[in-house]
Amino acid sequence: MQYTHINDEVKLSRIVLGCMRIANLGPTAVRDLIETALDAGINFFDHADIYGGGRSEEVFAEALAQEKGLREKLFIQTKCGIRPGFYDFSKEHILQSVDGSLKRLKTDYVDVLLLHRPDTLMEPEEVAEAFTALEKAGKVRFFGVSNHNPMQIELLQQALPQKIMFNQLQFGPAHTGMIDAGINVNMLTDGAIVRDGGVLEYSRLKKITIQAWSPLQFGFFEGVFLDHPSFAKLNTVLERIADEHGVPKSAVAIAWILRHPAQMQVVVGTTKSGRLKELCRATEVELSRKEWYEIYQAGGRELP
Ligand SMILES: NC(=O)c1ccc[n+]([C@@H]2O[C@H](COP(=O)([O-])OP(=O)(O)OC[C@H]3O[C@@H](n4cnc5c(N)ncnc54)[C@H](OP(=O)(O)O)[C@@H]3O)[C@@H](O)[C@H]2O)c1
Repeated sequence: MQYTHINDEVKLSRIVLGCMRIANLGPTAVRDLIETALDAGINFFDHADIYGGGRSEEVFAEALAQEKGLREKLFIQTKCGIRPGFYDFSKEHILQSVDGSLKRLKTDYVDVLLLHRPDTLMEPEEVAEAFTALEKAGKVRFFGVSNHNPMQIELLQQALPQKIMFNQLQFGPAHTGMIDAGINVNMLTDGAIVRDGGVLEYSRLKKITIQAWSPLQFGFFEGVFLDHPSFAKLNTVLERIADEHGVPKSAVAIAWILRHPAQMQVVVGTTKSGRLKELCRATEVELSRKEWYEIYQAGGRELP
């Protein structure tokens, strides 16, 4: 496993287990998944107050309760700010949401809190009050955002005493907007459209770790591109490179994200231990530039 060093004490695995889909598993199945993750070197687990309507956090806690000392071995991240029909970064909601997560997770603190999706009605000073209260109470150690562009982060950061350390964004071989705009600068093609305000380069400059969510999906949860007929070329290229490196093709897809010098984390969402083991073999592979660009183009993108 490869790790992102937050400080001298905290090193977070670059592959993160996303817990959005675990709500329907039983605690024993979740514990097996956590054990598999830990065995593979994953120590970082991604939640949100809304996953499974709160059930994902609950079943995760039930799994942790099955084995003493498990909580201390891992880092837990959760998110807040999405409510039914609206987004809410008010101080009151942030505080309430974190208390709800802590209760469901049966823990005194989460390691990381992310603001889930930009709330255009956000008052940065109010978020600052909420974050400071949470930090002082020992309920949250580190802070970040999700699905935010650089100017939104700047607006928030100027009011915050805490550094925004993470930004979780959709990214993978079949969702490459963050890369496309940089490759197609000043072209008249669709690839040149900047949809994210240059968030990739901004994050590198500001040392914000991008967490790539839904790395195997295309569209907005339309499906997994692995073995999907619409992504025949991508699958063929991944299979060939996987054979050459002696790893599964899902591992090559994850290795493609890890290879980028932005040093992203990858939030994988499988609920199957076997698949998780396969994905973690990504850290055995260092893709060459040629392989990296070949996968990029096989995903349907063109170089100008
Ligand atoms: N910040 C945000 O706005 C946001 C949005 C969405 C997600 N997320 C986070 O990102 C995490 C990952 O999202 P995701 O679940 O969509 O990611 P993903 O890893 O791209 O997709 C996982 C899904 O693909 C399926 N799958 C099919 N074949 C697979 C294979 N060979 N290997 C692995 N999985 C395969 C899995 O099914 P099985 O379970 O049957 O393996 C599972 O349903 C979530 O858990 C959540 O923590 C964040």
